[in-house]
Amino acid sequence: ATFDLVIRNAHIATATDIFDADIGIRDGRIEALAQRLPPGREEIDAAGRWVLPGGVDAHCHLAQPTDDGSVFADDFFTGTRSAACGGTTTVMPFALQKKGATLEESVANYHAVSDGEACIDYAFHLIVADPTPDVVERELPQLIERGYTSLKLYMTYDDLKLDDRQILDVLSIARREGGMTMIHAENTDCIAWLTERMLAKGLSAPKFHGLSRPVVVEREATHRAISLGEFLDTPVLIVHVSSEEATAQIRDAQSRGLSVYGETCPQYLFLTAADLDQPGHEGAKCICSPPPRDASSQQAIWDGLSNGTFQVFSSDHAPFRYNDPKGKQIGGSDGNFTHVPNGIPGIETRLPLLFSEGVMTGRIDINRFVSVTSTEPAKIYGLYPRKGTICIGADADLVIWNTDIDMTIRNDRLHHNVDYTPYEGRHLRAWPAITVCRGVTVYQDGEFTGSKGFGEYQRCDRPTPAKPKPQFGRPTPWLDVL
Ligand code: URP
Ligand code: ZN
Ligand code: ZN
Ligand code: ZN
Repeated sequence: ATFDLVIRNAHIATATDIFDADIGIRDGRIEALAQRLPPGREEIDAAGRWVLPGGVDAHCHLAQPTDDGSVFADDFFTGTRSAACGGTTTVMPFALQKKGATLEESVANYHAVSDGEACIDYAFHLIVADPTPDVVERELPQLIERGYTSLKLYMTYDDLKLDDRQILDVLSIARREGGMTMIHAENTDCIAWLTERMLAKGLSAPKFHGLSRPVVVEREATHRAISLGEFLDTPVLIVHVSSEEATAQIRDAQSRGLSVYGETCPQYLFLTAADLDQPGHEGAKCICSPPPRDASSQQAIWDGLSNGTFQVFSSDHAPFRYNDPKGKQIGGSDGNFTHVPNGIPGIETRLPLLFSEGVMTGRIDINRFVSVTSTEPAKIYGLYPRKGTICIGADADLVIWNTDIDMTIRNDRLHHNVDYTPYEGRHLRAWPAITVCRGVTVYQDGEFTGSKGFGEYQRCDRPTPAKPKPQFGRPTPWLDVL
């Protein structure tokens, strides 16, 4: 039968290989990889350009409920449209459990806001904020069985934080049921204690957000999260790592043979504390947690990406509008950082920034780029090999890259619903020419060409990397009594 689409002369990279081929696509899947395939109903000439697996953005926040009246600026339509225009074909936002709610209703509500809205494929992580016995013992195993196989736990934020004992309750179920646990690692008491004293001294400007959560706060919580995972012989993935010291904790755990994974994000490569030091309220645009650090931290994060400490490079797109009383100015425009919703937009710029500043400068190679932006996230969250690679049988999620451009990031050319980008004015040398999701062109030459509702919900398998590893030579007698 004829292919629906043939992409000719593709210069393909996967996480491990580089080869030239035509890509034959039928019914949304890759059916053939070969030289000189027969004609398709539609044809795209990639003309020797890089053709890479579509991005899997395994950490972004879309249409997420809040507690303070602030509103996430992107819903499933605008968020996935923006993602598609930056070369991402699968996103994984969070179905958040509010305190007092069941996980079941949280998931149902999240399906209700996403059904028929997304332009590219999507899967959910769970956020467990209220691990009651019923949630942990009954709901969580059922949801993991039904394909919600990853969950995020917070060690900070008043409405979300769990104490160590609660984390253990959840980790022990994740262990038994084969789920992957993501942890936001910052020491909440240190932050609260210090913030109180800073405010008493009038240190409330946006630039002080960073001072209120120093590296030691991240390093300690990272160490503790890893230790809790080690204690229960359960994999943990530390999300949005910002600092050299937290990176070193992860590296050390990995070198001891533990199943510890790490994620980092563009803001830790491209922003520093100086970006929060702007006049008035402006610095609020770059408030996120953990906060951007300094130039040597940026270097450590680059090193962690290239040496394999980080498996996942996500956007942590957490979009709040700046000139908006439901966004960064919910507490007014007086520059008090404690009222500012945390988060930075970046779902569209994630891949072009890393391609330009990582691949084209030689900091990481093309295989590593594919690995951290697509393959490893797909594996770690149970979407591989349907997502995350170019192989026969995989979904035809592909990006044809344009790497001889010279462009400047301008917010008015982005497709999110945020009124700023922290990367305004930054220079880029690569951007997708075409994004293809399940065989359909969703972005081409600066224009969104997809459609609302095309994106399909993806049920996740139990991830292979979530399987506990044997604790080589390390006796763990306490595990036998569980
Ligand atoms: O500041 C951030 N990162 N906001 C988004 C929520 C989170 O903790 O990932
Ligand atoms: Zn977080
Ligand atoms: Zn996040
Ligand atoms: Zn240039």
